[in-house]
Amino acid sequence: MQVENNPADKHIARAKEKPLGWFEDLYRDAARNADLIPWADDEANPNLRSWAKTASGQEVLGSAKTALVVGCGLGDDAEFISRFVPEVTAFDISETAIAWAKERFANTKVKYMTANLFELATSCDFVFESYTIQALPLDMRSRAVARLPEFMNPGGRLLLVARGRENEQPLADHPPWPLSRADLSPLDAVLQTETFEDYVEGTDPGIRRFRILYKKP
Ligand SMILES: C[S@@+](CC[C@H](N)C(=O)[O-])C[C@H]1O[C@@H](n2cnc3c(N)ncnc32)[C@H](O)[C@@H]1O
Repeated sequence: MQVENNPADKHIARAKEKPLGWFEDLYRDAARNADLIPWADDEANPNLRSWAKTASGQEVLGSAKTALVVGCGLGDDAEFISRFVPEVTAFDISETAIAWAKERFANTKVKYMTANLFELATSCDFVFESYTIQALPLDMRSRAVARLPEFMNPGGRLLLVARGRENEQPLADHPPWPLSRADLSPLDAVLQTETFEDYVEGTDPGIRRFRILYKKP
């Protein structure tokens, strides 16, 4: 999420004041111009795409019958996952984002829905979360993280992609707010960590990423 010189600045700056409302404001004001959505790349997340090529990605995506995409935005990740998984549900709190995704992928088999992760009741074999938790203020983080296992069937997997930080690293005033291992500790109690990758994506200066695959016993 670029903040400087981006017309989305005014919404991002209100993230603490309006933690769940600023997303809809931003999508609505963008008026179907995806260049004004800082995280919209018109393609699936590269960290998801590269994982899907690994043996683990092939095994997980190849065996899942159902998948859930959390905070799906304009739908590129959900569409990518639907190449492998027969039934994909993708949800976002922004009704404009959901309407926009449905327009972009008019013939999709993905089921798009407006829903709040704090309220949705569903469970799937594979859950994908990228960059939603890091866009929520720290005081909502443990509650948001704790919802993720609830979306998983027994034996199901969660792939979580986020910016990473050290536990004590201070956070900026505006999102993205990178996740620490301590932030993720509620998951350790209920899920098995299959792989925890901590790497720098890109250069100059690059972004520290966590890409973690969890399994629900
Ligand atoms: C930073 S964007 C990332 C979008 C997408 N996951 C991606 O990687 O491009 C965060 C998304 O989560 C959605 N979101 C934020 N809070 C949410 C909530 N409580 N429930 C569902 N979606 C939420 C926002 O509307 C936004 O589309």
